[in-house]
Amino acid sequence: MKHRLLAGTAFILSLFLNFCSSQTYFLNDKEGLGRVFDGIGGLSGGGATSRLLVNYAEPYRSQILDFLFKPNFGASLQILKVEIGGDAQSTDGTESSHMHYEDDENYFRGYEWWLMKEAKKRNPDITLIGLPWAFPGWVGHGKNWPYDFPDITAAYVVNWIIGAKQYHNLDIQYIGIWNERNFDSKYIKLLRYTLDKSGLEGVKIVASDNLWEPIVLSLLLDPELSRAVDVIGAHYPGTTTVIEALKSQKKLWSSEDYSTFNNEVGGGCWARILNQNYINGFMTATISWNLVASYYKELPFSRDGLMTAEEPWSGNYVVESPIWITAHTTQFTHPGWTYLQTVGHLAQGGSYVALTDREGNLTVVIETMTHNHSMCIRPPLPPFNVTSQNATFQLEGSFVSSSKVFHIMFKPSFFEKLTPLKLLDGSFNLHLDVDEVYTLTTIKTGEKGSYPDPPPAAPFPKVYKDNFNVRNPPFSEAPNFADQTGVFEYYMNLTDPGPHLFTFRQVVTARPVTWVADADQTISIIGDYQWQNLTITCDIFMESVKTGGAFIAARVDKGGESIRSTKGVFFWVFADGTYKVTNDLAGKTVLAEGQSGTRAYGWCTLSLTVEGQFASGQLNGYPLWKNAVVLTPKNGWAAIGTHSFELAQFDNFAVVAE
Ligand SMILES: *[C@@H]1O[C@H](CO)[C@@H](O)[C@H](O)[C@H]1NC(C)=O
Ligand SMILES: *[C@@H]1O[C@H](CO)[C@@H](O)[C@H](O)[C@H]1NC(C)=O
Ligand SMILES: *[C@@H]1O[C@H](CO)[C@@H](O)[C@H](O)[C@H]1NC(C)=O
Ligand SMILES: *[C@@H]1O[C@H](CO)[C@@H](O)[C@H](O)[C@H]1NC(C)=O
Ligand SMILES: *[C@@H]1O[C@H](CO)[C@@H](O)[C@H](O)[C@H]1NC(C)=O
Ligand SMILES: *[C@@H]1O[C@H](CO)[C@@H](O)[C@H](O)[C@H]1NC(C)=O
Repeated sequence: MKHRLLAGTAFILSLFLNFCSSQTYFLNDKEGLGRVFDGIGGLSGGGATSRLLVNYAEPYRSQILDFLFKPNFGASLQILKVEIGGDAQSTDGTESSHMHYEDDENYFRGYEWWLMKEAKKRNPDITLIGLPWAFPGWVGHGKNWPYDFPDITAAYVVNWIIGAKQYHNLDIQYIGIWNERNFDSKYIKLLRYTLDKSGLEGVKIVASDNLWEPIVLSLLLDPELSRAVDVIGAHYPGTTTVIEALKSQKKLWSSEDYSTFNNEVGGGCWARILNQNYINGFMTATISWNLVASYYKELPFSRDGLMTAEEPWSGNYVVESPIWITAHTTQFTHPGWTYLQTVGHLAQGGSYVALTDREGNLTVVIETMTHNHSMCIRPPLPPFNVTSQNATFQLEGSFVSSSKVFHIMFKPSFFEKLTPLKLLDGSFNLHLDVDEVYTLTTIKTGEKGSYPDPPPAAPFPKVYKDNFNVRNPPFSEAPNFADQTGVFEYYMNLTDPGPHLFTFRQVVTARPVTWVADADQTISIIGDYQWQNLTITCDIFMESVKTGGAFIAARVDKGGESIRSTKGVFFWVFADGTYKVTNDLAGKTVLAEGQSGTRAYGWCTLSLTVEGQFASGQLNGYPLWKNAVVLTPKNGWAAIGTHSFELAQFDNFAVVAE
């Protein structure tokens, strides 16, 4: 609490010293230190936020990874948190589970394994965290609830941790419960027990990735639960905590935060919360949702990542201001450093934190973000004023002997090394303008990494084909397809004589334990949201004799959490020998229907042409229906999908857009 007193004192002094030119702040370890710093991180997933990143060509993909993870280069992230894919929609798409079915295990699906390895390659000390948003249907035994069979859920999660080690040599250090949903004390204890029993005593539990309450109250009342939980992780805490959280003696983290458009205001938000999450709320880690905005930009929460990489087809990416804001702390600290107790607010607005390695190094981060230039998406930010000011920092205690303090300054778009400051009697003065970030540090490394400009932005190619024969080895998914319900994976049918040896297959066969309202159909989107007039062609193979149905679609207008209400032009064929054309994914508005002769376990070729207000369809190269009137939507993505959670394959996908 000492820092609050200091901040209060500073405020009172400022009333008296209004005409003095400078306010003095002490950086002191004489009366002990504050909490241990655990790092700053990014969250990949929750969901599918890194989907397009994996499809970048080299060298751009490695450059993006360097800006995120390479020490002393860009954001130099200290924590990477990933979604444990649960086959269900988790904000901007679905992520693949390591166990689609009870008897299925595969630790090579999706891109989170790859991402963790790339992060670790660059920074072997990076902290890895896993958290589920959703679970495959079998985990809940058909109920939309993962805690009725807590032993099954715990085994499922622990398998993921074991798989990470066994197949990728990745040590997961922290594991969460169920993102932003209810926790269950019995499950948490069983998870702890299952971890210990599996030799994973070192894996720590974060709970409950939601609000401070009710988990903090449960921890205070239940000593066994308290022993099971290592970290209280709260989301979007608005830099504050609750008294019960402090009483719990646990580490406090902002385990998901930011979620703000990554322009300079987003950078301001990030700078303010990175300092003030500790100053106001004693949080020792802050994790950005999301790591990198790498999903179609018309999906929800566009560009809410530390940087933007949403165009693998052009190679264009943008290193946004939050990258350099992150660097201000991460390039000059390490997890395990300790905050000083002397941290706080500045007299004329803004804040400062100081951290030490306890071996003489000191890093001070100062931010003077104004209200309007540091608003985060949530929670609402109460008004405050910041004006330009002079500040004197007086080093005391063991820091008196620190000979040199360098400083590095950020104004909205730069991160620049300035001439070293000279200490005079252990103190230094700074003139602080508004909307600035300064790092003052004894650490001599630190660099604004750069690469030649990436290629310019460009729309998705108008002519696009994928026969699913050429695979990018580490990935289970075909480039640029972004699953919004269900999971689509490369498939190899060794008994096929040739033409459909390699296909793309929807593999989720039961409704998952969902995080939001997934559609009742499965769907994967691709292409340019601006597409209006185009022809989509795709081979389809239904594998469900009774209920089989599959579609190709154009002008698909929604994804993410709104997927159930998606509209577009959907051309369906069914295993009962019929077809339908609907104006929506749910199939409520029928534009045309009739006989098609289509059956399960036989390939057919669908072709859909949309031009202005008219759509027409072909089956196996012959016209099946024409002049269906499509008034809305006017534009949208292309898509493929199935009528229910059922197996179906797709091959020779092609789009020609005008
Ligand atoms: C500070 O950190 C550097 C490494 O960054 C280390 O070499 C040095 O010993 C530390 N201590 C002091 C007093 O500089
Ligand atoms: C901050 O934004 C509000 C709302 O847009 C505006 O009324 C106000 O003038 C702005 N304040 C400053 C200092 O720019
Ligand atoms: C900010 O400054 C303005 C102008 O001096 C004043 O009216 C307002 O009350 C201040 N707001 C806060 C939150 O201090
Ligand atoms: C800061 O200090 C300089 C020089 O000492 C003085 O001219 C200036 O007015 C001061 N600024 C503020 C905001 O106090
Ligand atoms: C695999 O190919 C064979 C031969 O074409 C076919 O009979 C069988 O149905 C296919 N199975 C799947 C699951 O695609
Ligand atoms: C799509 O086709 C309609 C009718 O031919 C035309 O009016 C419209 O401009 C076209 N849109 C684009 C983007 O080419």
